[in-house]
Amino acid sequence: MNILITGSNGQLGREIKSIAELNSKFIFTDKEELDITIEENIRSFVKENDVKSIINCAAFTNVERAEIDKQEALKLNSKSVLNLIRICEEFDLKLIHISTDYVYNSANKKPLDENDCVDPQNFYGHSKRKGEIFVENSYSDSIIIRTSWLYSRFGNNFVKTIINKSKTNNYISIVGDQYGCPTNANDLAQLLIKLATNKERLDKNSKIYNFSNEGYTNWYFFAKTVLKEIGSDCSIKKISAKEISQTAKRPFFAITSKEKIKRDFKISIPEWKTSLIRFLNNY
Ligand SMILES: NC(=O)c1ccc[n+]([C@@H]2O[C@H](COP(=O)([O-])OP(=O)(O)OC[C@H]3O[C@@H](n4cnc5c(N)ncnc54)[C@H](OP(=O)(O)O)[C@@H]3O)[C@@H](O)[C@H]2O)c1
Repeated sequence: MNILITGSNGQLGREIKSIAELNSKFIFTDKEELDITIEENIRSFVKENDVKSIINCAAFTNVERAEIDKQEALKLNSKSVLNLIRICEEFDLKLIHISTDYVYNSANKKPLDENDCVDPQNFYGHSKRKGEIFVENSYSDSIIIRTSWLYSRFGNNFVKTIINKSKTNNYISIVGDQYGCPTNANDLAQLLIKLATNKERLDKNSKIYNFSNEGYTNWYFFAKTVLKEIGSDCSIKKISAKEISQTAKRPFFAITSKEKIKRDFKISIPEWKTSLIRFLNNY
C-alpha cells in the first residue's frame, strides 16, 4: 500500500517526511520527481510505483503573488487537482487534498463549520476553492482537509518570522484585527499519516474537513505569545490590517470548528497554545 506525497519539499511535506521518512511505504516527491501539472506524469508514476493513496501537499501558496500570477495559481491549485482526481478515479486510489481557511470569510468569531458558505477574499483562496470542487464531485475515496496558519521548523512561516525579527528589532507591529486558528504542521502531519494508512473509506461521512489546533487567536496575540515563550524583550504594537500594504485581502474572521473531524476520525486536537509551546521548546 504505497502512499505518494506530492510537494514534499514544502513546509507540510517536510513535516510528514520528518515523521514517516523511514517508512518504506511513503514515497516523497516534489516537482522535480513528479510535476502534478502534467496528468500523464502522475499516471506513469502511480503505475510504476504501485501507489494506492496520495496526500497532495503541492500548491501555489504565495498569496500576494497569486493576485498577479493568476494562471499559475489556477494551474497548480485547481487544474492539477483535477489531474489527481482523474488518476484516483482511474486507478481507484485514495486522495487527501490539503486546502485552506482562506476559502472562508466571516463577520464574527462564531466557529465556521464545513457547511458554512465559502467566500474567498483573494485569488489564492479562489484558486484553492476551484480545486476543492473537483474533489467534492469525485466518486473516488477523496477528502479535503482545510487547514490554517501553518507553522513548522521548515520553510517560511509566521512563527519563524517573529522569532527572527525579535533578534534584530526593538519592536514589531502586528495586525490585531484578523482572527484565525494556528496549526502546528506536526499535528497535521500526524493526522495525515493516520488517515492515509486507514484501510476504511475516508469519505463515507463527508468530503470536507476543517483541521487546525483548537481555540483561536489574532496575529498580534499569536506573536505576543511567541515572544513571551521565547523570553524575548522585543516589544510589540497592535495595528490594523488597513495599516499594512497587502494586495490580497485576508478574512477578518476565519475561525473553524473541528467537531466533524474529531467525531468522524476519533481524534483529539491540542489547543493552539499547547502545540505552540511544544514547538518552541523543541525549536
Ligand atoms: N502555509 C500555510 O499557512 C497554509 C495555510 C492553509 C493551507 N495551506 C495549504 O497547505 C498545503 C501545504 O502548504 P505548505 O505551506 O507546505 O506549502 P509550500 O511550503 O509552498 O509547499 C508546496 C510545495 O509544492 C511544490 N510544488 C510547486 N509546484 C509543483 C508542481 N507542479 N508539482 C509538484 N509540486 C509542486 C513547491 O515547490 P516550490 O516551492 O519549488 O514551488 C513546494 O515544495 C497547501 O495546499 C496549502 O494551500 C497552507
